[in-house]
Parts: sequence; structure tokens; C-alpha cells
Amino acid sequence: MKKVTLITGASDGLGKAMAISCAQKKMDLILVALPDSGLPALARFIEENLEVKAYYLELDLTEMDNCLKLTQYVKENNISLSFLINNAGIGGSYDYLKEDFLLFDKMILLNTRALSFITHELIPVLARQEKSYILNVSSMIIHFDGPFKQIYGATKSFIYYFSKCLDYELKGQNIQVSVLCPAGVNSNIKMRLLHNNCSKFQKFTILSPEYVADYAIEKCLAGKKEIIPGKLIKFLFYMSSLMPKSLKRYLTLINNKNLVKSQNIIKEPLLPLASRLKVL
Ligand SMILES: NC(=O)c1ccc[n+]([C@@H]2O[C@H](COP(=O)([O-])OP(=O)(O)OC[C@H]3O[C@@H](n4cnc5c(N)ncnc54)[C@H](OP(=O)(O)O)[C@@H]3O)[C@@H](O)[C@H]2O)c1
Repeated sequence: MKKVTLITGASDGLGKAMAISCAQKKMDLILVALPDSGLPALARFIEENLEVKAYYLELDLTEMDNCLKLTQYVKENNISLSFLINNAGIGGSYDYLKEDFLLFDKMILLNTRALSFITHELIPVLARQEKSYILNVSSMIIHFDGPFKQIYGATKSFIYYFSKCLDYELKGQNIQVSVLCPAGVNSNIKMRLLHNNCSKFQKFTILSPEYVADYAIEKCLAGKKEIIPGKLIKFLFYMSSLMPKSLKRYLTLINNKNLVKSQNIIKEPLLPLASRLKVL
């Protein structure tokens, strides 16, 4: 078996784009996402067109048993894992008191517990390779605290802090931990609709999942520990660090308010909570 890359949240958006990017670099893949999300078709497409192996597991990673199933699958099949991409995440902009806490609970479980558990269990497997990589997907939002992103932002801050500390802890070993902090990504149809309702300036900062995926994989493999895709985003981030805090907070408030407004405009049939959780 060739060196293998495991990607969580690989059925759509950034995860799917990263799967294709890794397959183009001739890595075998293990793809993970929720059941019925099109993983078998994606795996088949990748195998047929990109000449790599693509295994898939349909698991809800908010459940601990499923996280365990995933890590046991890797261990029991003696998989030569050399790249772990913790991408699966749910988010969105919500009024804290108006939302059902179940939504936040799922967000916390997927974005933080699943990510840290899978990493914990798979480090010994990654350590068997000459050189291995962990890429954790955080968000630019961690640098812009504001309303309506409380739990999402907190989970992404967890990922950032966790990645930094872990990379430090693994110094001297053969495992590199990188963290990806994207701003807006047009990762799926819902995100495209959401971003359509943003201001002209905001639209300018939105990137495609393919660009973000290729950039992130390339930079990670080149040894970059903190990855911010997009020249304009990097420039804006730098400018924001020069702003008075009050102005930065005001701009974040306007931005988040816009996102909530756009999110509420998107019409969807009355779906069970599990489906609503996919709105970022
Ligand atoms: N889009 C943005 O603007 C943006 C910005 C910054 C950071 N990010 C981060 O980038 C990552 C990917 O986001 P995206 O926009 O590409 O999202 P997406 O298109 O909604 O894809 C999310 C992926 O995670 C999977 N997933 C959701 N719930 C899951 C669960 N309980 N168990 C297992 N898999 C689950 C989804 O599977 P299903 O298809 O089966 O639901 C899907 O494959 C997330 O961590 C997100 O926070 C996104």
C-alpha cells in the first residue's frame, strides 16, 4: 500500500477538493463523511480517473463510537497513514439564545472532540512513517471575535490552539502539525447562496474550495505550520492588526450581522436538525 491520506468531511466542499488535490498528488485516500453523502460515487470517480485507491467510511463523527470505529479501522488494517486532514466541521452564524443548544452541542462534538480524539489515536500510526503531517482546519474567524459566531469561533480557536501546542509537543518527532485558517470559501451551494447576499467587498474575499485545497496541501507539505489562503485575505488580516480594537469589532459586527441576514434569506424545506447542521 502506498502512503495514505485520511480526510474527514470529504464528501463536499473543502474536504472533497482536498481529496481530489491529494489524489492528483498520487496519495491513496480514506474518505470520511456522513452516510448518504455521495462518498461511494466520489471514491469511484477518484479511483477511475486519478489512479489511486480511495477507501471510504460513512460515519457520523459526532458519535464517539464512530470516531473509535474510524481509528480502529486504520489500526487494524495496518494502514500506512502519513497525512491526517481533520476537515469535518459544522458552523454558521446563530443567535445564541434563540437556537436549540443541540446545534451547538453537535458543533462542539464534531469540531473539537472528534478532531482531538482522532488525532490522539492516530499519532502512533503516523509516527511509524518517515515523515507525517496533520492538517487541522480552523478558520480566519478566530482573529475576529464578534456576535453570532460564539460557539463556532470558540471551536475553531480550540483547533488553532490545539494545533500549535501539539506541533510544539511533537517537536523532534517526524510529525508536523499545521493549521489552516481560511476566510470565506464557496464550498457548497448553500455557501454560494450565502455569499451571494454579501456586500461587494466581502464577495471579493471569497475563495473557491479548489484554490484553498490546493494551496493548503501544497503549503502543508512544504512545511508551513499556519496557512492563510489568499493574498488579499493576508493583506486585510495584516491591516486589521493595525486597526483600533473598537473599529475591528465594529466591522466584525457588521460582517456577522450580514451573514445572519443572508443565512435567514436562504429558503430550505423544513428539515430535521441534522440537515440544518450542514448550513455553515
Ligand atoms: N466554507 C467556509 O467559508 C469556511 C471558512 C472557514 C473554515 N471553514 C471550515 O472548513 C471545513 C470544511 O467546510 P466546508 O465549507 O467545506 O463544509 P461543507 O461543504 O459543509 O462540508 C463539510 C463536510 O463535513 C462533513 N460532516 C458534517 N457533519 C459531519 C459529521 N457529523 N460526521 C462526519 N462528517 C461530517 C460533511 O459531510 P456530509 O456531506 O455528509 O454532510 C462534509 O463532507 C470546516 O471545518 C469549516 O469549519 C469553512
